Amino acid sequence: MNGTSGDGAPGPRRFPPGFVWGASTSAYQIEGAAAEDGRGRSIWDTFSHTPGKVRGGDTGDTACDSYHRLDEDLRLLGELGVGAYRFSVAWPRVQPGGSGRVNQLGLDYYRGLVEGLRERGIAPVATVYHWELPQALEDRGGWAERDTAWRFAEYAQLLANALGDQVAMWITLNEPKQAAHQGYRTGTHAPGKTDYALAAAATHHLLLAHGLAVEAMRGALPGRVPVGIALDVHPVRAANEDALEAAAAVDAEHNRIFLEPVLHGSYPDAARAELLPPAELIEPDDMAAICAPLDFLGLNYYCPYYVRLGDWDDLRLGESPQPGHPGVVNYVPPELPRTNMGWIVEPEGLYDTLRALDREAPRLPLYITENGCAADDYVTPEGEINDFERVDYLHGHLDAAWRAIQDGVNLAGYFVWSLMDNFEWARGYQRRFGVYFVDFSTQRRLPKRSAAFYSRVARHNVLPAPEVSLAPRGTEPRGEPQVSPT
Ligand code: FCB
Repeated sequence: MNGTSGDGAPGPRRFPPGFVWGASTSAYQIEGAAAEDGRGRSIWDTFSHTPGKVRGGDTGDTACDSYHRLDEDLRLLGELGVGAYRFSVAWPRVQPGGSGRVNQLGLDYYRGLVEGLRERGIAPVATVYHWELPQALEDRGGWAERDTAWRFAEYAQLLANALGDQVAMWITLNEPKQAAHQGYRTGTHAPGKTDYALAAAATHHLLLAHGLAVEAMRGALPGRVPVGIALDVHPVRAANEDALEAAAAVDAEHNRIFLEPVLHGSYPDAARAELLPPAELIEPDDMAAICAPLDFLGLNYYCPYYVRLGDWDDLRLGESPQPGHPGVVNYVPPELPRTNMGWIVEPEGLYDTLRALDREAPRLPLYITENGCAADDYVTPEGEINDFERVDYLHGHLDAAWRAIQDGVNLAGYFVWSLMDNFEWARGYQRRFGVYFVDFSTQRRLPKRSAAFYSRVARHNVLPAPEVSLAPRGTEPRGEPQVSPT
């Protein structure tokens, strides 16, 4: 039975043969060993060591200590039964100053990782940039400087030369939106700048870096190894017809500002001018480079945004003003559950996003490069982690992915965020996203119930019918009331 059971209830959902099941992490969030074997400093080392920037003063100095526990983490991946592992390379580990000298010990670490994956039959999927800009480049202006895009292309080419014979798929950038927006506009991520002009320049230079890297990597890679990018997309829902125009503007500013250049070579008209790169920064060949054809598009999906029109002086619990749009309010429909990040749980948002991307870029292979949920996990006296909330979240989103495939979307794989609990950026270690629990005092890894669930899905290529869920639905959200992750 595929899709429905005899009594009409949802039955098991079989995914297409060859569908890629993976798990995701990023270097700064798991590796630790921040000052070992010649690793240089990144903007996240500086930021996390700046008082008040990261919750509880947490840093990635040790993180999950994955740098020293490579064998154990490879074993976890084998145990989970995934066919692919998405990790990122820490730029300052392989090129400590962001240009010039290469640190062979750093490259050796990643070679060990990709070879270890290959030995276990797991495809290595490498992200070239998951937010770790070498501090030396930030000191010269960071992403607000055009030169950083060229340095990035050189670094990407260096990786293609060093690891290109082993890596199955390459992702140039992870979520350039968060790098530009939180890094240079809201200041909530490294390097912590709060300047609209810098953020607009960073937007363009990140995109240019992607385009230049695609070209440089294609020249260096053997055969036709797929190269793509991972973008975070949040569908923007309008409360009613009056809010449709506002929703379109928010969509332009949060989603289309990266999707449109990459897919079509232009910036969206509906975005406010102050968010867009000024014309003098855009050189004649830039937009053509940025929209170099992709082999796939990676989608990081967590939650939708909801907007309504309303008075900023009369906000309800959990609502926030939409910056730059007086009278536009971010809100959470009360019937929708939220995770402890404050993020709305709405699998239909994933379905809608996949359908929309498929319409916009017909037949371009899509991968869900991140999807997952933070929860207040704890170990019971019996040593179990019963994360029903996460199982429920994953089930709902995998069901949405399956439905999108049935409706013709060219979705080729899914990577859960994350393999294990890790350093959740400005939220530190307080937010757990892993399917493996990490006890940060001992570095012990323990499978959560979601690991067993996900492993079963990955091994059988089938999403089982939903079990009775114990997760609270539609109850008052816990954690900080906040609509968007920014
Ligand atoms: C994404 C990031 C990833 C992780 C998840 C929860 O925006 O790419 O590193 O922090 O959110």
